[in-house]
Amino acid sequence: MIPASVIEDIRYRCDIESVISTYVTLKRAGSNLKGLCPFHSEKTPSFTVYPGTQSFYCFGCGAGGDVINFVMRTENLDYVAAVETLAKRAGIALPDFDSNSGRPDTVSRSRVLQMNLEAAKYYRKMLFDDNIGAPGRKYFTDRGLSMASIKRFGLGYSPPSGGSMLKHLTSLGFKHEEIRTAYFAGKNERGYYDYFRGRVMFPIIDVSGNVIAFGGRVLDDSKPKYLNTSDTPAFKKSKNMFALNYAKNSDAGYFILCEGYMDVITLHDAGFGMAVATLGTAITSEQARMMKKYTDRVIISYDSDEAGQKAANRAITLLEEAGIDAKVLRMQGAKDPDEYIKKYGADKFRELIEASRGKFEFMLDGIRSKYDMSISDSKIKALSEICAYIAGIQSSVERDIYIDKTAREFSVDLKSIRADVDAKRRRAQYENSKKRKGELIRITSGLSDRVNPDFAKQPKGARIEEAVLGMLFIRSEYFTRKIDGRELAADDFVTTLGKKLFEFAKERHDAGGFSIGMLNESFTSDEVSRVSRMIAERSELSGNDEKSFDIYVKSMRDESTNARDGELSLEDILKKKRGNN
Ligand code: UTP
Ligand code: MN
Repeated sequence: MIPASVIEDIRYRCDIESVISTYVTLKRAGSNLKGLCPFHSEKTPSFTVYPGTQSFYCFGCGAGGDVINFVMRTENLDYVAAVETLAKRAGIALPDFDSNSGRPDTVSRSRVLQMNLEAAKYYRKMLFDDNIGAPGRKYFTDRGLSMASIKRFGLGYSPPSGGSMLKHLTSLGFKHEEIRTAYFAGKNERGYYDYFRGRVMFPIIDVSGNVIAFGGRVLDDSKPKYLNTSDTPAFKKSKNMFALNYAKNSDAGYFILCEGYMDVITLHDAGFGMAVATLGTAITSEQARMMKKYTDRVIISYDSDEAGQKAANRAITLLEEAGIDAKVLRMQGAKDPDEYIKKYGADKFRELIEASRGKFEFMLDGIRSKYDMSISDSKIKALSEICAYIAGIQSSVERDIYIDKTAREFSVDLKSIRADVDAKRRRAQYENSKKRKGELIRITSGLSDRVNPDFAKQPKGARIEEAVLGMLFIRSEYFTRKIDGRELAADDFVTTLGKKLFEFAKERHDAGGFSIGMLNESFTSDEVSRVSRMIAERSELSGNDEKSFDIYVKSMRDESTNARDGELSLEDILKKKRGNN
């Protein structure tokens, strides 16, 4: 079993869009992308990439999955080999998977929190030790951090030798295995060793003021640049944010969302106390909802490189789903906010905040930088791309606003833009219905559903089940949603495959987070593809809100109860039927 945190790192650093783009030419359609499927031959694109869920699905041949599945299929690799390939591409050091097992999960949260607090004090003490701390202090001052900031964020230092945390925590009465569970020590053939060495240390503090984890950065260009605490009984990376403990008290009325610790610290130092960052992973819906508790507006300020801008695009969608008004800040001449502020100053950064753009403008900026609008050929291509984007948007009000904007912005007739968008929508609808029909015939004929043999027995229940699973995989918070007073359970599902999928995903969700790539450990690639179809079908629809989810769950429960009754007394049902006649 590969740890969830490793899969998470890989999925973050190997953005599905960038990986697939190296094999397939993708065109934007709303928040998704379409291209010609690399797994079967086709003339109109049915291969779709969903950046929001980091998955793909082909409506033509049914292939689907996440970035790991994509690499498995294109490079013809097994799961572990695909993970290794991607890890290499992203420069992630793979831990020895087995050494993670046997980590006791009996260590309590409060025990880990105690260790964290002691560790934070000790790292700080070392940073301020005249001799030991000199390299750490030099590093921070070289990067322009004020002493006030260093103290405010409780920064520290873990020297390359001496000052062992393992020794220190042991002297305070903590056991080796506990220390390992809290990620201050690792273990190999030779025994226990310190996890953080020769690094400046950034404590991560939750909104209640607990030190819950650490990030540690090397002082030079060696790799890995940062080491972080993995999930512990007191910490889940996907459910916490850096500096939220301070930002929540800011009265700016909005948050600035960054990628890095250093970005946040520099921003706070420059007077932007509303800056927060995720912890080296893509933003999750949990984090979006956490922010929503404190603010309705978020300005995304990611790295200015291509990867950063793609991540920003995904973050917009996710934040908007959480009901947040999201904008993207565009930076030129520096790679990240930290560098920008040091080069151009806080006032210039404030101008960027004011000029930050909503999702449509952001997409336009991307297209403008790609095409030369003074050449009519390029302008036509650009407009066609914009129309494809608009055509992919579900809300007609939104479409109208964008059509209007495009017409004015590029001085073209509003009617022709509208005609183009409509034509593209009709074509897409036709293609989709053709494909869905084909698929439906395949499924309901009962002959060919090898993947889910139960489907034909209870087609209605099975379809509802697929909708429920699709929504669950798009919005993980539904795992713990109570419907009619109780959370979903395996028994609520209709087919054997449905039950198995739910059980597996639920277990992984509770253990730190589920992502579709993990299915490869226990399911066939056809089954994984089926799950991608569930996600794809739900992603093409709006209406994955709580209300719809509840309705689907209720009718799925009805269907599975019916099925059970049916198994118990076929006789009764026949009698009932005769009675009705
Ligand atoms: P960046 O590489 O953009 O970090 O990664 P940065 O904060 O700008 O780093 P500096 O300025 O070189 O010090 C963004 C974030 O991704 C995570 C960290 O949380 C980092 O702040 N990250 C990055 C890792 O977890 N591991 C890595 O090896 C690199
Ligand atoms: Mn940086």
